[in-house]
Amino acid sequence: MRKMAIKFILFCLWHLVGVFGDSDEVRSLFVMEDDSVTLNSGLTEIQTDDEIEWRFGHTNLLIAELSMKSSMILLYDGDDGRFRDRLKLDHQTGSLTITNITTTDSGVFTVNIISKSREIRYRFNVTVYARLPVPVISRDCSSSSSSSQQNCSLLCSVVNVAHVTLSWYKGNSLLSSISVSDLSISLSLPLEVEYQDKNTYSCVLNNPISNQTQHLDISDARLPVPVISRDCSSSSSSSSSSQQNCSLVCSVVNVGHVTLSWYKGNSLLSSISVSDLS
Ligand SMILES: *[C@@H]1O[C@H](CO)[C@@H](O)[C@H](O)[C@H]1NC(C)=O
Ligand SMILES: *[C@@H]1O[C@H](CO)[C@@H](O)[C@H](O)[C@H]1NC(C)=O
Ligand SMILES: *[C@@H]1O[C@H](CO)[C@@H](O)[C@H](O)[C@H]1NC(C)=O
Ligand SMILES: *[C@@H]1O[C@H](CO)[C@@H](O)[C@H](O)[C@H]1NC(C)=O
Ligand SMILES: *[C@@H]1O[C@H](CO)[C@@H](O)[C@H](O)[C@H]1NC(C)=O
Repeated sequence: MRKMAIKFILFCLWHLVGVFGDSDEVRSLFVMEDDSVTLNSGLTEIQTDDEIEWRFGHTNLLIAELSMKSSMILLYDGDDGRFRDRLKLDHQTGSLTITNITTTDSGVFTVNIISKSREIRYRFNVTVYARLPVPVISRDCSSSSSSSQQNCSLLCSVVNVAHVTLSWYKGNSLLSSISVSDLSISLSLPLEVEYQDKNTYSCVLNNPISNQTQHLDISDARLPVPVISRDCSSSSSSSSSSQQNCSLVCSVVNVGHVTLSWYKGNSLLSSISVSDLS
C-alpha cells in the first residue's frame, strides 16, 4: 500500500516536471510567400528515447514525426496534399523546415517532444504574407476648360491583395492612405495634383513585412511616350516576292482622354481616341 502511494507521488512529480516543460507561449513568425521557414524545436540534440511530433492548425493535424528508438522519420502530405514535398525534419534537432510556403500555410504549428524524462510543447504562430505587386499609377491630365490651371488626376491601383496599406507620398510626407485587412479584388487611391507641380510623388503598397513603390514625376506625367513595336519577319508564302512588309504597333498604357495617331511625314494615316481611362 505504501509502495503504491510512493509510486503515485513519483508519478505526479514526474508529470509536474512534464508540465514545467510545456510552454504556453506562442512564438510569432512572419514569412514572405515562397520563402522557407524553419521552426526550431529548441533542442540541440535529440535524446535516444525522444519522440517528436509536429502538428498543424485547428485540427492538430499530424504532419511529421520522428522516433529515435525506431530511428524513423515520417512526413505527411497534410489533409489535401498541401505539404507534399515541402517538409524537412532535421534528424539531429527535430526542427521542421517548410519550403515554398504559401499563404494557406498560415496557422499554428505545434511540436510535442515526448520521452520518459520530459514532455515539452512549443507553438509557433506562422503568418505568411503574399508577395506584393508593384502598384500602377494611371493619370488623367486633360485640361479643364473652366480654368487656365491644369490639374492631373492620379489613381494608384493594385489588384488581388490582402492585409495591405496603399499610400500616396509627396517626397517623404504621407498624403493619404487606405487599408484592407481581408482579400481585395482591387484597391485604388486617387490623388489630385497640379500640372506644374515639381514634386516627386510616390505610391507605396505595404504589408507588415515588405513594400513596393511606384514613383511619379509630374513633369513627365502629362503623357507617356508611345512605344512602337515592329514585326518585319518575312512572310514565307511570298518568299518569291522581293518586297517585305513590316507590321508596326504603337502602344501606350494607362491614359485617359487621349488620341493616338500614325503619321507618314506630315500626313495623318490613322488614329484612335479614348475618352475615359484606358
Ligand atoms: C519550390 O520552388 C522552387 C523554385 O520556385 C521550385 O523549383 C520547386 O519545384 C518548388 N517545390 C515545390 C515542392 O513546390
Ligand atoms: C496568430 O497571428 C495572427 C496574426 O498576427 C493573429 O491574428 C492570431 O490571433 C494569432 N493566433 C494565435 C493563436 O496566437
Ligand atoms: C487643382 O487642384 C488644386 C489642389 O491641388 C485645387 O485647389 C484646384 O481647385 C484644382 N483646379 C481644378 C481646375 O480642378
Ligand atoms: C520599404 O521597405 C524598405 C526596406 O525594404 C524600408 O527601408 C522603407 O522604409 C519601406 N518604405 C515604406 C514607405 O514603408
Ligand atoms: C505589303 O504592303 C502593301 C501595301 O502597304 C500591300 O499592297 C502588299 O500586299 C503587302 N504585301 C504583303 C506580302 O503583305
